[in-house]
Amino acid sequence: MGRMAGKVALISGGAEGIGGALARMIVAEGGSVMLGDIQPDKAKALATELGANADAVALDVRDLVQWEAAVASTVKRFGKLTTLCNIAGISEPGNTVDVDLDSWQRHIDINLNGTFFGCRAAIPVLAAAGEPATIVNVGSMLAHRASGNMAAYCASKAGVTHLTKSVALDCAARGLNIRANTVHPGAIRTPMYERYVNAGGPDMIDQIEATMASAHPMGRVGTPEEVANAIIFLSCDDSSFTSGTDLNIDGASAIRD
Ligand SMILES: NC(=O)c1ccc[n+]([C@@H]2O[C@H](COP(=O)([O-])OP(=O)(O)OC[C@H]3O[C@@H](n4cnc5c(N)ncnc54)[C@H](O)[C@@H]3O)[C@@H](O)[C@H]2O)c1
Repeated sequence: MGRMAGKVALISGGAEGIGGALARMIVAEGGSVMLGDIQPDKAKALATELGANADAVALDVRDLVQWEAAVASTVKRFGKLTTLCNIAGISEPGNTVDVDLDSWQRHIDINLNGTFFGCRAAIPVLAAAGEPATIVNVGSMLAHRASGNMAAYCASKAGVTHLTKSVALDCAARGLNIRANTVHPGAIRTPMYERYVNAGGPDMIDQIEATMASAHPMGRVGTPEEVANAIIFLSCDDSSFTSGTDLNIDGASAIRD
């Protein structure tokens, strides 16, 4: 029996990166997954590769109506929803004075509102499953330790962190069998990370990689599978008394001197 046997997950941002690795791991652990992504062809290709326990739906997390449709599609396809994983996110640099206003708004719309809409659409359906249900949201080590040149990202991820605690308390107070937690990755080798590494051109790749690694006391960046493993722990019944918590997957970055 896998750790996710009997669970049905909806993953936003499930086409690639951390969401893609998580989808593979949930299916390998015996669960079913619906991949919601703004890249529906890529999500569909991964679902096809994963087989009968995976499917895909077009989802732009900025739109509550699309979230409601994705939740309904998951229930129609797999019979219930037990597990919401809000993974979709963007990251663009910019300080408070210079950040492009559209970029600021994109971060709030996708990272913060997108997570809020996901919780709002899913909670009644998670409650209706009549069994232990979970929400895992993705923050960042930059939710704990701000960066001067990542104003919008830091603000949006700090918002996700506290939103999650509010959801956890509300579900507990209303006697819903839903736990909500946040994972906080350090730098993780995904397409998002590769865009940063490649931004300075070929001559800068080694230097940027070294800088990224040295930001972590463990001296390296993480893998999508290391984050997926933590999300699985928070999504399965092994963490049955854990709600409203922050789990750092960051090579000790959050506690560094
Ligand atoms: N990679 C890192 O170093 C790192 C570190 C800390 C936190 N995170 C967070 O982890 C999450 C996943 O990051 P990643 O590195 O896998 O990113 P990624 O860019 O590699 O993948 C993100 C996925 O989200 C999807 N997506 C983007 N906007 C969307 C939208 N509006 N609606 C639906 N789907 C959308 C993309 O199509 C893609 O499939 C993000 O929330 C990110 O902020 C990543």
